[in-house]
Amino acid sequence: MIRLGSLLSAASLLSFGVAAPPAPAWKFVEKGLSGIVGLEAIVVSPTLTVLFDRATNDPLRTPDGKVAWGALWNLETNVATPLKLVSDSFCASGALISNGTMVSVGGNIPAAADLNQTGAYDGRMGLRLFAPCADPNGVGCTIFEDLDTVHLAETRWYTSSLRIFDGSLLGYLHSTSMIVGGIHEDTPFYNTDPVNSFEFFPKKDGGVPRPSAFLERSLPVNLFPRVFALPDGKVFMVANNQSIIYDVETNTETILPDVPNGVRVTNPFDGTAQLLPLSPPLYTPEVLVCGGSDKSDQTPVEELSSQDPASSQCSRITLTAAGIAKGWEVEHMPQGRMMPEAIVLPNGQVLITNGAATGYAAVKSIGVTTGNSNADHPIFTPILYTPDAPLGGRMTQKGLPTTDIARLYHSAITLTPQGNILMTGSNPNGNVTIVPPGQPGFSSEFRVQTLDPPFMSMARPTLSNVPKQIAFNSKFTIDIDIPAGISPSTPVKVALMDFGFSSHAFHSSARLVFMDATLAPNRKSLTIFTPPNNRVYPPGPAYVFVTIGETTSVGAHVMVGSGANPPVADQGIRLPGL
Ligand SMILES: *[C@@H]1O[C@H](CO)[C@@H](O)[C@H](O)[C@H]1NC(C)=O
Ligand SMILES: *[C@@H]1O[C@H](CO)[C@@H](O)[C@H](O)[C@H]1NC(C)=O
Ligand SMILES: *[C@@H]1O[C@H](CO)[C@@H](O)[C@H](O)[C@H]1NC(C)=O
Ligand SMILES: *[C@@H]1O[C@H](CO)[C@@H](O)[C@H](O)[C@H]1NC(C)=O
Repeated sequence: MIRLGSLLSAASLLSFGVAAPPAPAWKFVEKGLSGIVGLEAIVVSPTLTVLFDRATNDPLRTPDGKVAWGALWNLETNVATPLKLVSDSFCASGALISNGTMVSVGGNIPAAADLNQTGAYDGRMGLRLFAPCADPNGVGCTIFEDLDTVHLAETRWYTSSLRIFDGSLLGYLHSTSMIVGGIHEDTPFYNTDPVNSFEFFPKKDGGVPRPSAFLERSLPVNLFPRVFALPDGKVFMVANNQSIIYDVETNTETILPDVPNGVRVTNPFDGTAQLLPLSPPLYTPEVLVCGGSDKSDQTPVEELSSQDPASSQCSRITLTAAGIAKGWEVEHMPQGRMMPEAIVLPNGQVLITNGAATGYAAVKSIGVTTGNSNADHPIFTPILYTPDAPLGGRMTQKGLPTTDIARLYHSAITLTPQGNILMTGSNPNGNVTIVPPGQPGFSSEFRVQTLDPPFMSMARPTLSNVPKQIAFNSKFTIDIDIPAGISPSTPVKVALMDFGFSSHAFHSSARLVFMDATLAPNRKSLTIFTPPNNRVYPPGPAYVFVTIGETTSVGAHVMVGSGANPPVADQGIRLPGL
């Protein structure tokens, strides 16, 4: 029997074998197994990402033989190392603060059925501190937790958190004394036991939480509010279909227009939201909110189905007086998405990915589920969004690859210092569950993937002599090696980025601030002008990326500002008019 297929492919290999490599393209790459479900992710060093899961029955073990629910994922070796935690980090959030420490906030009561194997404590008041880690493999790097001395004032589950202008962390929200102990089917859905207040780390106001009328008003679909530090230091918040600007310094809320058409964008109707890149000289803030659901937030849970279509709506608002008066501008994704993710790329485009075409967030808590999942019809092809293209022409799926790994509830995604996008997790089940073939639902997902932009397979600019620390309203010079063949007239874009903390379809504190830059006449060095102050870029760690045409460098790790413990004083100069 002649196997025509293999003959043909052998022939094509012969004829093309040593020809040019395939044209650079977006591609998904599998990278190994995470050992725990990576349901939260944050890059903590040029080589390391911290992953968190629920304290349950993950396969990874700590050296003392207990089940792990935290891990360090090495971006270079693709190996997960267990991280010993004290309390249950399930459905927490977090951020990097001004001294470079990562703070994980809130969590849950560990499942009683798993206690013997986890030894986890109640994490709802948890504050988990990961100090900057110099070892590329994380050797000797640990998470500090002392529930007796370092904890929140309230119990908080499904909380958001955000690094603000003084480098400290604004956290809130709510949750609950509701016990989801054991792995019962009575997992909560709507926010029915709220803690409608804000608090800070380190503490402000003597540690007394600040009540929030906004959180009260946006019940019951307001878990994991989408919150952003604006360039004047105020905070923009979206929850349910409502939005406000919160002034941390005066503790006042200003009501902004609702997200149009009854679309609700926070958990359990998760859309995603992203601050679009801020550019000099004005750093005009714009926020993009995509996906979610237009179902009424009064719908009884029994009437919700994993087959209900998700919203395709993206809504965008410019946060200036004129932009607020104009209200939200509406555009549509090629498909509805529940739990999409939006990642700002170093060139200023936004990647919208993951999520499901139907259903809701959370696990086995609505009338009709698909296995344990409240959502169904995972979406396998990302969208590329170009913010400065004209309305109606900003989104494309052309040239973007398709995966077969569902990333649904309890998955995480982050940009990495390498410039690609790391994807972990998905577990729309109460614990680690493998769904037998042919059965409805989705297995716990341990496969780690990256989504690699085309420049990962091109010659890239390389940066050297980048200072470890940069001040506001100043300039610094780095060495740059630009690949041959790039025309001298190609524009150079320099991005200062925080990748944010990925949890529940949101990346809190994620930020891109473009910096003006001048290339030396010999094109061997680049002088870069830093953001004017600590409100434009809240002080703390960042990565500097240089994009020239189609190629982007690896990100260089810098500390922006003094690196002092929060709260830090204002630095640099105020923007005109702010
Ligand atoms: C935990 O271990 C103890 C001692 O071995 C045992 O008595 C108890 O039943 C176990 N609990 C659960 C929930 O498995
Ligand atoms: C996982 O959850 C299922 C269903 O609630 C339960 O039967 C099982 O014992 C749990 N497994 C472990 C290892 O906790
Ligand atoms: C936002 O939701 C509230 C509560 O369901 C509703 O009364 C209001 O009309 C909605 N706003 C818009 C613009 O649809
Ligand atoms: C960073 O600041 C926080 C808040 O003051 C503090 O708890 C933490 O220990 C500091 N980290 C380091 C590495 O000093």
